[in-house]
Amino acid sequence: MTIHIPVARPFIGQDEISAVSEVLASGMLAQGDRVAEFEKKFADYCGTTYGVATNNGTAALHAALLAADIGYGDEVIVPAFSFIATATAVSMCGAKPIFADVNDQTFTINPDQVAERITPKTKAIIGVHLFGQPFDVRAIQGICESHNLKLIEDAAQAHGALYNGEKTGGFGHFGCFSFYATKNMITGEGGLITTSEKAFAERLRLIVNHGQSEKYLHTRLGYNYRMTDIAAAIGIVQLKKLDKFNMRRRKNADYYNSNLSVLGLVTPYVAPGMYHVYHQYVIRLTDEFPVKREEFIEYLTTKGIGTAVHYPVPIHRQPLYALANDPDPCPVSTRLATSVLSLPVHPLLDAKELAYICDTINRVK
Ligand SMILES: Cc1ncc(COP(=O)(O)O)c(C=O)c1O
Repeated sequence: MTIHIPVARPFIGQDEISAVSEVLASGMLAQGDRVAEFEKKFADYCGTTYGVATNNGTAALHAALLAADIGYGDEVIVPAFSFIATATAVSMCGAKPIFADVNDQTFTINPDQVAERITPKTKAIIGVHLFGQPFDVRAIQGICESHNLKLIEDAAQAHGALYNGEKTGGFGHFGCFSFYATKNMITGEGGLITTSEKAFAERLRLIVNHGQSEKYLHTRLGYNYRMTDIAAAIGIVQLKKLDKFNMRRRKNADYYNSNLSVLGLVTPYVAPGMYHVYHQYVIRLTDEFPVKREEFIEYLTTKGIGTAVHYPVPIHRQPLYALANDPDPCPVSTRLATSVLSLPVHPLLDAKELAYICDTINRVK
C-alpha cells in the first residue's frame, strides 16, 4: 500500500454536507440568516460583541484597516514573517507596511522591534498569532495604548487559541480570521472580523457591502466582501467542532514533542500563558541537523509524508516590497525562512501515521 500523508486535510462530515444542502434547497444562497447566525456565534465564541463575516481573511484585514481609517500616508507595523496578506492588506489601503522582525523562538512579532519602528505616521499595528500561537499581546497592547495606535489581530491561523486564558480575536480593536480550506476551522473560503465597538461594526458593515446604508444608497466607498449563506452554514457546523479539532492538533503536537529526537531538530517553543492551537507544527533545523532542508523534504516526500515551508521568503524580501533591505532590517525572519519546516498536524492524523512520521524522521541520516 502506498503511503500518502498530506500536510493538511480538511474535515468535512455529513453534518456540513447536510447544512449546505439545506441552504441550497432553500434557494437563499447569498447573505441570509445563516451569515447572521454565524457572525453571532463566532463573536460569542471569541468573547466580542460583534462579528462581521467576509468572503476571505484578506478582505477581513482590508476592511478592518479601512474601518480604522488607515489610508494614504499612514504607516502600519506588521511582522516580516507571516503570510503575505498581513502586509498587502495595508498596501491595499494606500498605506505603507513597516516590517518588524519576529522573536526567534516563538516566531511572533518582537515588541522591541515594533517600538523602534514607530514614527509620527504610525497609525496601527497588526500582530499575527502565527501558526496558532498568540503573539505577546500585553506588550503590543501597551505600545498601542501609549502611542494611541489601533491594534489589529491577524488571527487567521489561531481560531480558539488562548492568551492567558482568553481567546484571540478579543484583544485588539479588530480581530481578523480566515476560514480558508486548510485552517483550523473552514468554510472553503471565508473570513470574519470581530470587534466590540459598535461604531467599528457599523463601519465594517458598510465597507463589506458596497458602502450601502440603505438599498442602493451608498454613503462611502465599499467592496463586495460578503460571505455567502453556503459558507456560513459550513462555518456554523465547524465552529461546534473547533475545540475538539484544536485538542487533537495539540495532542498530535505533544506526540511529536515527545518522540522526535534528531540532533539539530528544534520543536516549537510555546511561551508561558499561551494555548497554542497548532495551525502548523513548525520545526526548525539547525546546522547540526544531518541533512539540508531541501534534501530532508525530498526524503520525506519519497516516504509519502507531506510537508510545507511557511514561509520560504519573508515578506520584507518579497519582490513586491524588497526595496531597501541592506542591511537586512529583519534578520531573524530571513534566517527562519531558510530553516523552518511544517509537518502534518491536522486532526485527521491517526496514531499509526504519527508513529510512522516520527520513526521516518528519526532515521534521517
Ligand atoms: C496569517 C494570515 N493572514 C491572512 C491570511 C489571509 O486569509 P485568506 O487566505 O482567507 O484571504 C492568511 C491565510 O491564508 C494567513 O495565514
